Amino acid sequence: MKNNLENIKHIILVASGKGGVGKSTVATNLAVALAREGYSTGLLDADLYGPSVPLTLGVSDQHPLLEKEGENDMISPVINYGVKIMSLGFLMKKENAIIWRGPMVSKALTQLLENTVWGELDYLVIDMPPGTGDICITLSQKLPQAKALIVITPQQMAIADGRKAANMFKADGISIEILGVIENMSWFTPEKHPDEKYYLFGQGGGMELAKELNCPVLAEIPLVSDVCELGDTGKTVFASNSKLIVKAFEKLVNKIEQVNKVLT
Ligand SMILES: Nc1ncnc2c1ncn2[C@@H]1O[C@H](COP(=O)(O)OP(=O)(O)O)[C@@H](O)[C@H]1O
Ligand SMILES: [Mg+2]
Repeated sequence: MKNNLENIKHIILVASGKGGVGKSTVATNLAVALAREGYSTGLLDADLYGPSVPLTLGVSDQHPLLEKEGENDMISPVINYGVKIMSLGFLMKKENAIIWRGPMVSKALTQLLENTVWGELDYLVIDMPPGTGDICITLSQKLPQAKALIVITPQQMAIADGRKAANMFKADGISIEILGVIENMSWFTPEKHPDEKYYLFGQGGGMELAKELNCPVLAEIPLVSDVCELGDTGKTVFASNSKLIVKAFEKLVNKIEQVNKVLT
């Protein structure tokens, strides 16, 4: 581990067994929620095949600056919403993404992690690629001190995907603690019926996986209609018309604070 990671207190890997479950939404908004609570926070977009963080945090037209630090070329993160953001999306042309191969990707990611000037951070949140491929394994091996969050949706089928992601953190030579399960798109509450909850995708998936993994469900995040549009226009859930999703992220931060107090 290089020096620039030594001043990071907590590293949180946000993982999922497959794409489209809201992993990036959880990772980015968790990072912003932590920053809003006053924690110095970084966000590494490690989903090199589909980096979405620059767009969803409204910084896709920005370029991180290169700095010399002795022999090393270092990169200054881009800052928005109080979060230090780094993504290969800043450094590559979109059309080139497809030709990347495993070893190149792992090397690029390692450089991104180690050559970013993170400074002192309370939290570094990492948006992992979906699944259990090279990038996930490289990161898990490089960051044994990290802790993982598994994002799933409530369907029964999602449990199998979540289990796959969780198993990777316990694979050969890897031993990453799983902090908890995040159930995303848990329920829907129509604006006109604020007291009702509709479980569109079924119920209990998060709880079932958590029991199996012997960890808590740390958040149940509602399906909210403006989340997609907010993400596409570089805004966070804190600009949502729904206070429910804001509360869900604030609660998640509280839970993470509690877990860390217990650990330290
Ligand atoms: N709680 C939610 N409510 C409504 N839309 C959501 C929610 N979470 C994610 N989405 C939307 O679902 C899509 C996939 O989410 P994303 O975070 O990109 O998933 P992943 O990173 O797992 O592929 C995005 O368009 C996002 O805006
Ligand atoms: Mg994503």
